[in-house]
Amino acid sequence: MNLELDGKVAIITGGSKGIGRAAALGFLNEGASVLICARGRDSLDETVAAAGHAARERIEAITADLTDGNAIPRIVARCVERFGRLDILVNNAGSARTGPFLDLSDEAWLSDWSLKFFGYVRMARAALPLIQQSGGGVILNVIGAAALNPRASYTIGGAANAALNHFTKALAEEAAPHGVRVVGINPGPILTERLLKMRGGLDPRSAAQPAAEAFRTMTPLGRVGQPEEVADLILFLASPRAAFIHGANITIDGGLTRGLMG
Ligand SMILES: NC(=O)c1ccc[n+]([C@@H]2O[C@H](COP(=O)([O-])OP(=O)(O)OC[C@H]3O[C@@H](n4cnc5c(N)ncnc54)[C@H](OP(=O)(O)O)[C@@H]3O)[C@@H](O)[C@H]2O)c1
Repeated sequence: MNLELDGKVAIITGGSKGIGRAAALGFLNEGASVLICARGRDSLDETVAAAGHAARERIEAITADLTDGNAIPRIVARCVERFGRLDILVNNAGSARTGPFLDLSDEAWLSDWSLKFFGYVRMARAALPLIQQSGGGVILNVIGAAALNPRASYTIGGAANAALNHFTKALAEEAAPHGVRVVGINPGPILTERLLKMRGGLDPRSAAQPAAEAFRTMTPLGRVGQPEEVADLILFLASPRAAFIHGANITIDGGLTRGLMG
C-alpha cells in the first residue's frame, strides 16, 4: 500500500526512543521529513544516526522539555524554519508515575499532567494553525489503554489518558472544517524503556523465567507489543489512506481491553 506520505512534514514529540523513535524512522522510510524532540541529546543523536545518511536532510532533532510551555513555540517554529511547513503532529512524549493514591501529592499530579495532558494540548494548539496553512493534515495523540482500564495503582496516568481520549474527540470537531483530522491511539503494553521501567526492570528478552512469564500474561495474545507495531498504525492513520478515520480513539493492545468502547 502506498501511504502517500512522501514529502509530508511531521513533528514527533518524544521521537528519540520507543514508539516515537519507531514512528520517526517509519516516516523517514516513507519519504517524509521529521522533527523529533526530547530532553536527552544522546538518544536524539542516536536516532538521527539510525536514520542513516540518505535521510540526513529530512530529520531535525532538538532538545526540549515538553512540561515547559515556553518550549512549544520554539519546536513548531524550528520545524517551519527547517522544512517550510507542517502536515502531521504526533503527540507522543508522555509518562506518569504509578503508586498508591494516598501517596500521590498535588505536585505529583500537576507534574505528570504537565507532560501527558498539557504537553499534548499545548502542542495541538501551536500546531493546528500551521497544519491548516499547509492545506490540512493530521494530529495523532498517542495516549494509552489505561484510559479504558482504570486501576487504583495508576490514577494519574489513567485519568490523563481518559482526558486525552475526550480531548481527541472534542478537538476533532474543531479541526474538521479546517481539513485537519484528529485521532487517538491507545497502546497496551509495548516493549519500550518506559515499560521496562514500570515493570521494575523485568525484561521479557532475558532468560529469567519469571520475567518472561510476567510479560506473557499481560495480554490475551501472550506477548507485549513492539514499538514498530504501533508505529505502523501511526503511519497508516497519518496517511491519506485513512482519510475517513477522524475523532476516533483506536486501541492496539493485544486484546487486553475487554470493554465495548475500546
Ligand atoms: N510503552 C507502553 O507500554 C505504553 C503503553 C501505553 C501508552 N504509552 C504511551 O506511549 C507514549 C510513548 O511511550 P514509550 O513507551 O515509547 O516511552 P519511552 O520509550 O520512555 O520514550 C519516551 C520518549 O519521550 C521523551 N520524553 C519523556 N519525557 C519528556 C519530556 N518531559 N519532554 C520531552 N520529551 C520527553 C523521551 O526522551 P527523554 O527521556 O530524553 O526526554 C523519549 O523520547 C507515551 O505517551 C506513553 O504514555 C506507552
